[in-house]
Amino acid sequence: MKLAVFGLGYVGSVTAACLTEDGHDVVGVDSNREKVEIFNSGRAPIREPGLDELIASGVASRRLLATDDSVAAVEQSDAALICVGTPSRPDGSIELDHIRTVVADIGRALRGRTTPFTVILRSTVLPGTTRDIVLPILESASGLTIGEQLDLCFNPEFLREGSSIKDYREPPKIVVGTDHGKQNAITDQLYAQFECPRTDTVFEVAELAKYVDNSWHALKVSFANEMGRLARDLGVDGREVMTIMTGDTKLNISSRYLRPGFAYGGSCLPKDIAALQSHAQSRDLDLPLISAIPMSNEEHLQSAMHLIEDLGGDKVGLLGITFKSNTDDLRNSPFLELARRLLDSGREVRVFDPDFDPQGLIGANLAFLREQLPSFEQILVSSPDEVMAFGDIVVLGKNDEPLVDAALKLGPGQHLVDLAGMSVRPVVGSYVGIGW
Ligand SMILES: NC(=O)c1ccc[n+]([C@@H]2O[C@H](COP(=O)([O-])OP(=O)(O)OC[C@H]3O[C@@H](n4cnc5c(N)ncnc54)[C@H](O)[C@@H]3O)[C@@H](O)[C@H]2O)c1
Repeated sequence: MKLAVFGLGYVGSVTAACLTEDGHDVVGVDSNREKVEIFNSGRAPIREPGLDELIASGVASRRLLATDDSVAAVEQSDAALICVGTPSRPDGSIELDHIRTVVADIGRALRGRTTPFTVILRSTVLPGTTRDIVLPILESASGLTIGEQLDLCFNPEFLREGSSIKDYREPPKIVVGTDHGKQNAITDQLYAQFECPRTDTVFEVAELAKYVDNSWHALKVSFANEMGRLARDLGVDGREVMTIMTGDTKLNISSRYLRPGFAYGGSCLPKDIAALQSHAQSRDLDLPLISAIPMSNEEHLQSAMHLIEDLGGDKVGLLGITFKSNTDDLRNSPFLELARRLLDSGREVRVFDPDFDPQGLIGANLAFLREQLPSFEQILVSSPDEVMAFGDIVVLGKNDEPLVDAALKLGPGQHLVDLAGMSVRPVVGSYVGIGW
């Protein structure tokens, strides 16, 4: 394939060199003349292991060259990959000027073109940028329409500086976003040789996937460091503790607990985080991530409350009350807390939970229920259908078959607030999820 790579920085120069190695004819485009000259002399404009050699061999084979002439580059290519910078402004917002300029340049170079062309945006941009900014600029500058002979993809880059050639050759995954979410022929061809998970989705999912990854990586580093500080304060070997933690690939280093849903609760997580917070306070130790966890959880509870308030009904039915499936433990159950707040706000509430049998409740659990929800006997009903018959709004708290089956019987005019992430949707009524 004949490809133009816009931006010869950390991402673009590696991408251009590796695509040449894959057998494509590549022209790198950069507005910085100095970078263009360095590139054409067979050297890397940035420091990256193995890159000098790859560029030297590409340039020597005459299948790789650099230019600052974007029109000529587009004219001789089938596709353009955009790798220009998206730096932070002083307030943290993202600077899109380089993207706008390059997209307009590419668009103008495409005016009157009759052969197919694909624009692949690789720079990191926030959801909405490709659809609302890049697409209109490209269409208006080119006079062409996306979906006819012009295609547009958002294809985030996951390589890491320092190992980016290896990361290019062995990508952790490939994600391609399009207008419609279906596969794109050019990226299929470009990445056919890679044996890694591939996701074809809509622009916005692909755009956010990159930010979620980087947030996750930053969170991991900060969490490990925070646990290290805590361990050192306690005279414990933090590295050994983290080795134990990361060695658990069932609960810790796995997809467990990483699906958007409702707030955490129960008898352990809130108590143990509170204990760490209290210890840190007594030692004058700052653990900002640990302190932020209960705040984030409370925010999630409040956002569920807002969802329900925005829907506007007076009668709310809850499918689920214990803190998770297959337990009757009500201690620190976020669903119980939600029921309490709904009652406090003047709404009528009815609750059904197959895991909950008030007759069998004893000890701390019963005391907790009496304290949190003194009127619990009046709001409990004995079947999910009673909840469905009652609620203007029904809140699904657990992804359990009898509850999901009941939720699917939603009637016209009823609203379902899904806090559990059911895989099916009711046919009638309105549906709102909390993180999807
Ligand atoms: N650096 C990384 O490891 C990495 C990894 C994944 C994703 N990303 C993302 O990829 C994008 C590029 O990052 P980078 O680190 O390679 O940036 P960079 O600043 O190193 O390179 C950007 C290049 O674009 C060129 N450029 C700017 N305007 C241009 C124009 N109008 N025409 C042609 N060239 C132009 C600049 O001269 C520069 O050489 C960013 O959105 C970044 O967030 C970076």
